[in-house]
Amino acid sequence: MLTRLELREPATGEVLLVSDTDGDSLWSRVIAHAVRLTGIDTVVHLGDSRGGSARLARERWADLGRRVGDAGGTIYWLAGNHCHPLSDLVPDGKDHELRKAPWKSTYLLPRTSTWTWHGRRWLAVQGAVSLDWPTREARGFSAEAEITSEEEATQIIESGVQADVLISHDAPWQPATAGTISARTNNRMGFSRTLLEASRVHSERLSRIYRAVGEPKVVAHGHMHLGGIERRDGTTVVSVGAKFGGVSIVRVDLSSLAMEAVPWSPE
Ligand SMILES: [Fe+2]
Repeated sequence: MLTRLELREPATGEVLLVSDTDGDSLWSRVIAHAVRLTGIDTVVHLGDSRGGSARLARERWADLGRRVGDAGGTIYWLAGNHCHPLSDLVPDGKDHELRKAPWKSTYLLPRTSTWTWHGRRWLAVQGAVSLDWPTREARGFSAEAEITSEEEATQIIESGVQADVLISHDAPWQPATAGTISARTNNRMGFSRTLLEASRVHSERLSRIYRAVGEPKVVAHGHMHLGGIERRDGTTVVSVGAKFGGVSIVRVDLSSLAMEAVPWSPE
């Protein structure tokens, strides 16, 4: 179900994008520092906190959420494939609701959702195929919980929504940055062919969504751990890097959709 949300307008007309923070406490402090430094009060997390267990997921999620909250920010979290069971950690929720965490200023976005900021329509699509799936399956994770299903894609496409910004955890097959295309071709990590094929199917599903919603001006995703901002025809593709990466905190002007990497240092 595509959920239509009413989200508070970011006060400065800008947001920060982060992704794949993996529960690193020092990196949480860097992000909170960026919130203080820029005065931007809204952070969108494109997924992956390295849950592991429910207890660890809660601790890692809370650490970043609390730090951003203490810095005066609100964080909206789109689930990746290494976020579960975050959805079990927020009370009284269903997948189609915006769900507030039990600490301040942290929200879990629904699996698929849309809202408007400063006149621009955003579409958020969760999940990715875990290429390290065999180790996760042994720990009891659900593959279905970690991807956007064919049914959910159809619901988005048939909704008729037209988006200016598409955010997702997984990278669409196209358009994609040169780094993403190269990583898919080289398979330096030696992932299994079966999982790579499942990943391709999921990425192509996102490409279909991209085309159906009007080829948004901005596509932003995480998951690849390869920071980069590149133009592809009429679309700016933003691959938000992982913790301590080169393009790992990205500042977006909500009216012009101009964006730039925020430089950071451990202090
Ligand atoms: Fe991921």
